[in-house]
Amino acid sequence: MYVPDSNIVNVAVTGAAGQIGYSLLWRIANGEVFGNRRVHLRLIEVGEGLKAAKGVAMELMDSAFPFLGSVKIEEDLHEGFRDVHAAILVGSKPRGKGEERADLLVANGKIFGPQGKALAEAARPDVKVLVVGNPANTNAAIVAAHAKGLAPQQITAMTRLDHNRALAQVAERLDVHVSELSHMIVWGNHSASQFPDVTELRLNGHPVGNKLDEAWLTDEFIPRVAKRGAEIIEVRGHSSAASAASSAVDHMRDWFQGIDTEWVSVALPSDGSYGVPEGIVCSFPCRLVDDQWEIVQGLQLSDFQRERLDATVAELQEEFETVKREGLV
Ligand code: NAD
Ligand code: LMR
Repeated sequence: MYVPDSNIVNVAVTGAAGQIGYSLLWRIANGEVFGNRRVHLRLIEVGEGLKAAKGVAMELMDSAFPFLGSVKIEEDLHEGFRDVHAAILVGSKPRGKGEERADLLVANGKIFGPQGKALAEAARPDVKVLVVGNPANTNAAIVAAHAKGLAPQQITAMTRLDHNRALAQVAERLDVHVSELSHMIVWGNHSASQFPDVTELRLNGHPVGNKLDEAWLTDEFIPRVAKRGAEIIEVRGHSSAASAASSAVDHMRDWFQGIDTEWVSVALPSDGSYGVPEGIVCSFPCRLVDDQWEIVQGLQLSDFQRERLDATVAELQEEFETVKREGLV
């Protein structure tokens, strides 16, 4: 298949030589994310990763993708982000067994300020940014604080993996196919405090109602989804990679090509919706309006939902206070 080079998309991926990059880049290069456009990739890496990225670029070339235009390896952020339409910020350290994602806050947080600044200075003004590196919400808040001139909703963090995990758990419980479910919500932080919420969930368009019992929801479903990352680390020995890449593909494909459902879960800087303080990057149900994520309004929250949302927001505020104290925002 011949794809003309008149319809191009420039895409930066940081941490391109890591576990997630090794899965993500192939899904981007095969045309899944940006549709019928030729993709020019910038692989942004540091240190040892720069040499490994050369190998990744060689393998991408050897895959002979019709949608792949070029692959460049960059260490300099301004060169890496120059004129990009999309930036996927993965590069950072993953947690190990027994650690929480917030334990990475100070070490990884330092990476994201300079990236936010360089994005604002070098990327296209309509660049769409997804932060994957953990702790993803607060790293995205750091990017947003430094990306002067970009609109807050251009900077997102990934909770689509939690959203997908939640759908998969319910599908298994109800013995239905995951594609029959919609209207899942993940509120809050990509952390153990997150609130996967089935209140609005629909099966083939109809409310799921009381098909899911409360004891299962509170004692099994919520903690299982919220701690799935740690469970993967325990069982696989490394943090999730292919499923994380797949969720990044879902997030960016939907953003660039539209969604076929009413909403999905996206973490973005709060505008005060649902009482979440402005500025912190919180996961909400979001729809796409004119190519931009917009928080779904008007959902009535029960006391239980309010309590869970408040708890995860309190953790986000604490994380934000920590990065403020460290001078990262
Ligand atoms: P990895 O260690 O395999 O790869 C990380 C890569 O980032 C390395 O190649 C490293 O050289 C590079 N890197 C480090 N600092 C960099 C910088 N300043 N600029 C550019 N590149 C840099 O890790 P991984 O498994 O690919 O995970 C990456 C991150 O994604 C981790 O923080 C992990 O916790 C996070 N993650 C998030 C989610 C999510 O749902 N939000 C899911 C899975 C993993
Ligand atoms: C995940 O949810 O799998 C990732 O955030 C990795 C982790 O540290 O759990």
